[in-house]
Amino acid sequence: MQGAVEDVDVPSASDVLRRCRELVRPALVDAVGRLHPWTGEMAAYALGWSDTAGTPEPGGSEGKGVRQALALLGAEAVGADAACAVPGAVAVELVHTFSLLHDDVMDADALRRRRPAVWKAYGTGPAVLAGDALLARAVTGLAETPGDHAAAVRRLCDALNDLVAGQAEDLRFEHRPWDGPGAVGPEEYRSMAEGKTGALLGCALALGAVLGGAPEPTVAALDRAGRHLGLAFQAVDDILGIWGDPATTGKPVHADLHRGKKTHPVLAALAGGSRAARELGTLLASARPTDAAAERVASLVEEAGGRAATRGEARRHLDAARDALRATPLTRTAARELDVLFAGLADRVM
Ligand code: IPE
Ligand code: MG
Ligand code: MG
Repeated sequence: MQGAVEDVDVPSASDVLRRCRELVRPALVDAVGRLHPWTGEMAAYALGWSDTAGTPEPGGSEGKGVRQALALLGAEAVGADAACAVPGAVAVELVHTFSLLHDDVMDADALRRRRPAVWKAYGTGPAVLAGDALLARAVTGLAETPGDHAAAVRRLCDALNDLVAGQAEDLRFEHRPWDGPGAVGPEEYRSMAEGKTGALLGCALALGAVLGGAPEPTVAALDRAGRHLGLAFQAVDDILGIWGDPATTGKPVHADLHRGKKTHPVLAALAGGSRAARELGTLLASARPTDAAAERVASLVEEAGGRAATRGEARRHLDAARDALRATPLTRTAARELDVLFAGLADRVM
């Protein structure tokens, strides 16, 4: 494994994530506590802290907290104390939660982290509102951070604009054909995936560095690393959406195929031109796949090399993310923890 970390004292990815969640938790609880009680209840449900009755459910469906960890490690990597990045960590975690609430409405996905999605549990209108509340709180919290927070707020807003543009492309691509002149090209896929997933991961790392007082070239390098990580992450997410086990992912399988989402494995399979690729093209052109047809689509995508190509794509972006880190002067311990975290995230299917 490139950049293997051999030292025994380096914590595992889950240790790093746990340490960061514990550091951020009080500020995150405080931020959610400032919401209107109703949107706060939905936010607590979305964060996996409580059930629909508002009863605490410790740890049950909590996310990994990747973005909050990246913000803290971004600060530590530039030699600052993680505490200075806590407002940034809270902001990216709230934005992430907001984006998932709205994403499940947009994608009509009824399941998230093994539980009914917020729109299924509370209704679409309330879920949209809870997302709005989280977004507003994220920006407010960062704007209230003592010191010169303008650069931090700017970073968050840039990422939000990219995220919305990525989501717009993702939704519009559903209605584009699989082949011919209107087909979605590799660069279009990349721009969509970088926007919807990479921008916030890049922002998380960059925000930590900004709040830690790092110079702009370092901030930009961390942003680039996070964006590549996001592209690797999305490639893995696309694979899990076709071949993942819902018991593990907590999300339905084949939903992307049913909705005509232009995911990397399918696009790569079609680009191959093999017999399986041609059969796949014909199948996809006839109609959106039903449950039985989705199984056939999945095996044709595999046969045509789509799964392997997407694994390769994830690996290349993981390597690019690690290269961006190595080319930047960062403190040793945080750089190693980032490396472990990056590898752990891409390793979800490799
Ligand atoms: C989600 O993308 C991106 C955002 C929430 C901004 P996807 O729709 O591909 O992700 P999942 O599979 O629902 O988590
Ligand atoms: Mg989705
Ligand atoms: Mg989506």
